[in-house]
Amino acid sequence: MDYFNYQEDGQLWAESLPLTQLAHDHGTPLYVYSRATFERHWHAFDRAVGDHPHLVCYAVKANSNIGVLNVLARLGSGFDIVSQGELERVLAAGGDPTKVVFSGVGKTAAEMRRALEVGIKCFNVESHSELDRLNQVAGELGVQAPISLRINPDVDANTHPYISTGLKDNKFGIAFDQALTSFRYAASLPHLKVEGIDCHIGSQLTELAPFIESTDRLLALIDTLAGEGITIRHLDVGGGLGVTYSDETPPQPSEYAKALLARLDNHRHLELIFEPGRAIAANAGVLLTKVEFLKHSEHKNFAIIDAGMNDLIRPSLYQAYQEIIPVVPRDGEPQTYDLVGPVCETGDYLGKNRSLVLAAGDLLAVRSAGAYGFVMASNYNSRCRPAEVMVDGDQAHLVRERESLASLWQLEQRLPE
Ligand code: LLP
Repeated sequence: MDYFNYQEDGQLWAESLPLTQLAHDHGTPLYVYSRATFERHWHAFDRAVGDHPHLVCYAVKANSNIGVLNVLARLGSGFDIVSQGELERVLAAGGDPTKVVFSGVGKTAAEMRRALEVGIKCFNVESHSELDRLNQVAGELGVQAPISLRINPDVDANTHPYISTGLKDNKFGIAFDQALTSFRYAASLPHLKVEGIDCHIGSQLTELAPFIESTDRLLALIDTLAGEGITIRHLDVGGGLGVTYSDETPPQPSEYAKALLARLDNHRHLELIFEPGRAIAANAGVLLTKVEFLKHSEHKNFAIIDAGMNDLIRPSLYQAYQEIIPVVPRDGEPQTYDLVGPVCETGDYLGKNRSLVLAAGDLLAVRSAGAYGFVMASNYNSRCRPAEVMVDGDQAHLVRERESLASLWQLEQRLPE
């Protein structure tokens, strides 16, 4: 559930503000977020686990706006990061570094050093070379680095191949049958301290079974490790819980947590870590866009809108479906439109075959745009990236200004005369 609803005036609102007003005040395309929705989704995860020791580490990659991170930091959220850039954002937003887990296959020595200096909770390590590098950096700083090993449980997440990460063929994690060797090796390194085990099998999962299967595999491994004197204190199950884009019915965080807790059995002491990104952010945001022109050909109707693939790439990149709804619905006979952007690519569309009643100048809301929306935006075609607004009740906070034309080439130079 979110806080983007049609109100008594027939118009679409974000919390207590009409989207028409936000478009008027800030222009389009515009990312609009709802603080209440972010908070609701975060609490849904946090409460789902009850009083079992746990930490919700929001996956910063889904939406790393400082305003968003600040809202979550105020709730006491942890954060899952994949770069120093994300770490610095978390710190700038008021996040607690001791609740940060650091994922990713390619951490540099400089990134490791910074993360050790600020005292993050755990490094989610993905290879032996990374163990060696971290051991070296921690040694130079005279500290022990807390680590978890990301194990690839080889389960099929049944999701889009680009966002499926838990199969043998993926670049992620340490192969399941290598896990024991890797843990032994990690435990032998003087500047590392084994704390946990983690996995992340994919994104936009709409069933529980793959989560349960991979958890069971990791729990069995934890038992084997205990037999070897390697104590695992936390189990990080990654992110990946899906959301409703159209008619998917993904499990609720409460069902997910209940199923996990039921598997824990003799592992009741294990701290559970979650890294949800999409489940918290996707339906907490919309992309507001305006219809520039309607173009009718013999075979097709196009609505040319002012947001393109550079602003929201998911439809073009993953053939992802996101609902597109009118901000002020009008009466009339619906027609079937392809909603296309101004970018010079055939693949530049936000929706295909949508049945809508439209006129030039109409405002549309692309739903579920709070995750992997702005963060994946680019300046392709020298387009300024949109502004971002966080709605909080009847207040709107501009959490990122629209880019200016001059900023597009601010870092560039002409050649000397
Ligand atoms: N943890 C790790 C280690 C991850 O790689 C990811 C996402 C997450 C957590 C968060 O997963 P979530 O809860 O959001 O599913 N750009 C794609 C999604 C890529 C996800 C990458 N990893 C999309 O727009 O669908």
